Amino acid sequence: MNKIQPKTLFVGKNIVYLPTCHSTNDIASEKIQNGEGIDGTIVITDHQTSGRGQRGNTWEALKAQNITMSLILKPSFLRPSEQFDLSMAVSTGIYQFFKANGTEGVSIKWPNDIYINDKKAGGILIESTISGNSLNYSVIGIGLNINQNSFSNPRATSLSVENGGGEMPLDRLVEQLCFYLETAYLSLKNGHKDEIKKKYLEIMFRAGRLSRFKDESGTFLGTIRGIDPAGKLIVEGEIAEKSYDIKEIEYLFD
Ligand code: BTN
Repeated sequence: MNKIQPKTLFVGKNIVYLPTCHSTNDIASEKIQNGEGIDGTIVITDHQTSGRGQRGNTWEALKAQNITMSLILKPSFLRPSEQFDLSMAVSTGIYQFFKANGTEGVSIKWPNDIYINDKKAGGILIESTISGNSLNYSVIGIGLNINQNSFSNPRATSLSVENGGGEMPLDRLVEQLCFYLETAYLSLKNGHKDEIKKKYLEIMFRAGRLSRFKDESGTFLGTIRGIDPAGKLIVEGEIAEKSYDIKEIEYLFD
């Protein structure tokens, strides 16, 4: 991982490689607090011992088989209320990365899980700090299943499994990922937020398809109709349309 040389302007030009660490998001946040938060830095590890996921979950990944990294960005051009624009940009970048590696059936399960067909192949955990009326630093934590081929969760998969097996070169893939992340981020920075949102809506898991969900009132059949400006999921239920925050709705699988 020390030899990563992405063809980018700034993403991945500064690399902090740790063979083992507790959480790359925590290390990235420590760097920022110590005044070492260089824009585009990636903190990457082969083995994360206390990986964190969304909703307070843990993130498990077998040693040296996957991409486990955090990207430090300084998106001061975004207001705190625009955080989900960054999330959509990162998701579309990772989607392009998976597509470039020959996988069919890639989608983004709102808010930012990477799915291949009906299984999870990766997750994103974005943690931002705010300064005045803009974002200061964002730590983009990315866990992508690449060469792992057995999972305790039956609803998990990896790029290699979906491509029919065979080991994929992690270093080269990280270089490529840096490129797709930078392209998506610069597109957002250059004002293309509407195109990014359009793409995100196109690639959303289950978008426009009647499927089963669960909310505080119980299970229901609904259709995803979009995302509101705050990034909430808009679902048309049997009676009405409603917007949900991450903890307020669950996708059900038959
Ligand atoms: C999720 O789907 O719940 C998000 C998972 C995010 C995991 C990544 S792995 C690298 C970074 N460091 C962490 O502790 N978490 C993120």
